Amino acid sequence: MGVRIIGIGSYVPDNVVTNFDLEKFLDTSDEWIRTRTGIVERRIAPPDMATSDLATRAAERALKDAGISAEDLDMIIVATATPDMFYPATACIVQKNLGVRKKPCFDMEAACPGFIYALDVASGLLNLPNYRHILVIGAENLTKFMDPEDRATYVLFGDGAGAAVLTKDDSPYGIITSCLGGDGNLGDLLYLPAGGSRRPASKETVEKRLHYTVMKGREVFKHAVLNMQAAALTVLQRAGLKKEDITWLVPHQANVRIIDATREKLGLPPEKVYINIDKYGNTSAASIPIALAEMKEKGLLKRGDLVLTVSFGAGFTWGANIIRWG
Ligand code: ACO
Repeated sequence: MGVRIIGIGSYVPDNVVTNFDLEKFLDTSDEWIRTRTGIVERRIAPPDMATSDLATRAAERALKDAGISAEDLDMIIVATATPDMFYPATACIVQKNLGVRKKPCFDMEAACPGFIYALDVASGLLNLPNYRHILVIGAENLTKFMDPEDRATYVLFGDGAGAAVLTKDDSPYGIITSCLGGDGNLGDLLYLPAGGSRRPASKETVEKRLHYTVMKGREVFKHAVLNMQAAALTVLQRAGLKKEDITWLVPHQANVRIIDATREKLGLPPEKVYINIDKYGNTSAASIPIALAEMKEKGLLKRGDLVLTVSFGAGFTWGANIIRWG
């Protein structure tokens, strides 16, 4: 039994913050950000907008696209590294917002590849008799966890959400295969120091700004390129496909130079790669579903297209899916 994506939707906050806006309070420039990352602007959620708010709006659009109601769902999974709170899970809050009850809901924390991870987990579950429709959401409110005084991280991220409705299906379309990976030894390259059980919130953690992301950018860059390239090649091999079979590479939008390095390794021409980092920055687990929803809206995805998604993130984690669109 296969697993098909029958609906997709996304949501980004209205508030556009350009590189020029950042120049006003950070020692940075549009030229630096644009040439080093490809980012031109990003969306920043207002203080009262939580991850579940973004996720719910994306979910409503995905359900509409699928032509089913929230009542038809058998499970909700939210991939996020920036939940509303530790508990309850953001997925439970989304369920309440969607006006339904008694459905299993849980969050998945796999950083940026969270959506790719969740597609694979949901595909496994859909092969069990209990489930028919699973809502998978990638949603992040990362800008709330970036230090507005740290130019090395604050300029890179944005907020948003994307959602997909997955269903059991015996057509030739859907998720063909996935490949997931991780290496906890690289955890100190990108992490949020305080607020968890290792270092609970205190006056000291706030004063030392430990509730903001710490990143060794150059090291992250190096491992990102290696793991994105390896995941893409592994998933192709697993699917028994050649590089030239791929219609679209839809990579995690972290840095246009990381995307270019992945594309070059695969030998794909630039026109086969979907890039929207210029508009949204790095939206972590939301970046791939936002891209897919935008591509669908623009009419870029045709029935039968082979889509390769690939991502990496804090952990380190990485992953890739191959989807036959339709
Ligand atoms: N504006 C101006 N100058 C800056 C900025 C900025 N916003 N940020 C850093 N610089 C300076 C540095 O201080 C440094 O100055 P120095 O040479 O005087 O010391 C100089 O620019 C070069 O800094 P590098 O860090 O070496 O620059 P690099 O070319 O590596 O680019 C970047 C930095 C963009 C962060 C890059 O390393 C990168 O994209 N890394 C990957 C980051 C990433 O993808 N993170 C997300 C992971 S996904 C997840 O799980 C959330």
